[in-house]
Order: sequence, then structure tokens, then C-alpha cells
Amino acid sequence: MEASKIIEHCRTIATFTEEPGYTTRTFLSPPMRGVHAYVRDWMERLNLDVRLDSAGNLRGTYCSSAKGPALWIGSHLDTVPRAGAFDGILGVVLALAMMEELNGRPTSFPVEIVAFSEEEGVRFGVPFIGSRALIGDAGPEFLAVRDANGISIADAIRAYGLDPDDVPQAALNGPARGYLEFHIEQGPSLEGLNLSVAAVDAIVGLSRLRVSFSGQTNHAGTTPMPLRRDALAGAAEWMCAVEREGLAVRGLVATVGWIEVEPGAANVIPGLARATLDVRHADDSVRQAAVARLLDIAEEIANRRNLTFSHEVLLDQPACAMDAELVDSMERALVATGQKPHRMPSGAGHDAMILARRMPAVMLFLRSPGGISHHPDENVLESDVAAALAAGMEFLRILEVGGQAA
Ligand code: HGY
Ligand code: MN
Ligand code: MN
Repeated sequence: MEASKIIEHCRTIATFTEEPGYTTRTFLSPPMRGVHAYVRDWMERLNLDVRLDSAGNLRGTYCSSAKGPALWIGSHLDTVPRAGAFDGILGVVLALAMMEELNGRPTSFPVEIVAFSEEEGVRFGVPFIGSRALIGDAGPEFLAVRDANGISIADAIRAYGLDPDDVPQAALNGPARGYLEFHIEQGPSLEGLNLSVAAVDAIVGLSRLRVSFSGQTNHAGTTPMPLRRDALAGAAEWMCAVEREGLAVRGLVATVGWIEVEPGAANVIPGLARATLDVRHADDSVRQAAVARLLDIAEEIANRRNLTFSHEVLLDQPACAMDAELVDSMERALVATGQKPHRMPSGAGHDAMILARRMPAVMLFLRSPGGISHHPDENVLESDVAAALAAGMEFLRILEVGGQAA
């Protein structure tokens, strides 16, 4: 399949959105129906055995008659708010482009194409809903997590016309040969090295928390400064400490991506400020120490400002190594298809780190022009898409000739 066609598919899928003019698609929101119809139609034209599981993962099996554990290839269909056209989607489209390239040729093992329903964690705060369901880690407690409107994951599944009681049936029921995820790098490294693609050998660990500073709502005009218990001022002081921590610790990134203030009027001292914290590092002990320090700093600020601080851990995802044999096979595929062999860690989280709990996993990164992602300007180069497809086909061939035992 031509790279231009692959990019066209991604840009078409990007038009299914909750927010006209932007690409915003959260867990099983209405535009996901259009995406599921579009991808299902393509899967059926490829004669895949297609099913939508009860976690909203769209799955297609190629060569289901082949014996033995399957190779899984996929990524996620949801997006962050006002996203680009390639984060997640490109991994599904390239997987289907590989099936197009096979053109009906039987493979020596089944290939499962999976379009995960949710990876970003935007609606419920907890990410990886689709891939956690696939590995059997989406139990009742997880499905009870609620969004800002009090709707649970189970409610959202039901509202989409699926049955949350069937989520256990979405889980893998046996061994798998491995998992391959194509994904944009979402950072500046490959562009800096002038490389099209690279194998991913590790994914950094990530912590995601929701925090709250509460003080005293009061009149902005009549309350003397020393008497205030300003929740937003406290949160703001803490946010500067978060940035200082990220700058001070080598290899650490720390972000406050969301903040909400109550009551939110220009002439009212904020009594409540709620925010998120996202901390990542390749070494889990460094990440966890940074989170602990930032919680201590928040408590110190709250005590000094006569505020109350509380926090909730939404995610503590350990760093994850990709499968060494699959990474080697992927680098061999790069060399065989005329690319420089290169391997690198991922600063972004991916479904591959969830699948890696149940099967050997590897990713193939494509260069992100301008190093930009989670933004409408996110892009890919046609030449890099062509390189990724060729490497993916060669990777499959290497596995078929026994590059990776099950
Ligand atoms: O946040 C991430 O790392 C990914 O985009 N879900
Ligand atoms: Mn993302
Ligand atoms: Mn992604």
C-alpha cells in the first residue's frame, strides 16, 4: 500500500471527532462508532475474522486457520483533546496495510490486528482500558472508575451497546507469539539523528496522580492578603516546584497538564484547586522518589498557607523493557530493508507496556517531524511510512522463518 494512502486513511479517521475542527476522541464516545465502522469495513474487505470485544477493542484475525500462537499487531483509536492524526491510529492503519501487502498469502501463524478502544486516559484518568482488558486486568473495581460526570467505565461500555459483564471474555485465552506496535516517536530524537525509524527497546515508567489544594473561598476585594487561604496560589507555588524537580533530575519529566479552580470567578479567592501530576523516568526508583518529594513539598506549602492537601494515585506504571529477541529481529528487519539499525527508549507510554506483561513485545517508531505530538501539527513523512511498512513486512518474514520462538 502506498504511504500516501496510509496517511490518507489516518487523516480521514482524524475527522471522526467530538470537537468539530479538531481531533478529540475519548473512550467509546459517539465518533468512535464512525471509526469502528471505517476500520471494520477495511478488516472485512481483507477477509479478517472481525469482532468488537466488550471493552470496545476492534479485533481482526488474519489467517485464523494457521496453527499456533498469534502475532498481535495494533495500537489505539482514542486521542487526547485536539490531537494530531497519527498518535495510535497510525499503528492500526500500518497493521492493516501489512495485511493488504500479504494479499491473502497464508502466514505460518495467525495474525491478530487489534485497534484498542482507549489508551490515553483522558476521560477516566486511568489509561490503557483496551489493552488492560485484553490481558485480563480490567476487573470490576477498574470498571467502576468514574469520569467527571460520574459515569463509570462500565456505564460507558453499556451506553455504547456492549456488556461490561462480558469484559472478562475480552481477555487473551492462551499464549501469544508477540506484539508489534508501530507508533510515532512523539519527540525530537529521530529527527535529530536524521533517522526514519527505530526499534524501541524500553518504555519509561509513569506516575499519574490527581491532587487537590483546598482553602477558603472569599471576597477578592475585602479580604486582606495575610488573611487569605488561597488554594490556587498554593497550587501555583507547587506547580513551579514540579517544574524545578523536572529540571533538576536528569532524565525526569514532570508535568501538571490539567487544573480546575472553584468557584472560578475573577472577584473570588479560589477555595479549591484540583490538578493532575504526570511524572516519568526510565528508572522506577528515581520516578517514585521524585513523586514522594513533590508530595512532601505540596504538604509543606499547604501547611504554610493553612490549606489542606490531598492526592489520589491514578497510575503507577513501571518502566518496561521490550523483548530482546524481538528488538533484535526488528533491527535485522531495518538493516534488510535499507535502514540504519537503531534502538531507543520511549518517553511516551504505550499499549505495548501492557501487552508486555503477557507476551514478548516490540515497537517500531517513526520520526516525528518537528518533534511535535499531542497537537494538530503532529505529522509523519511519506518516506518514513514506507520504510516502516517495509520493515514490518520483513519483521513478519523473520518471525515466520523462526526468528522468534513462541
Ligand atoms: O501519555 C502518553 O505517554 C501517551 O500518549 N498515552
Ligand atoms: Mn498519546
Ligand atoms: Mn499513543
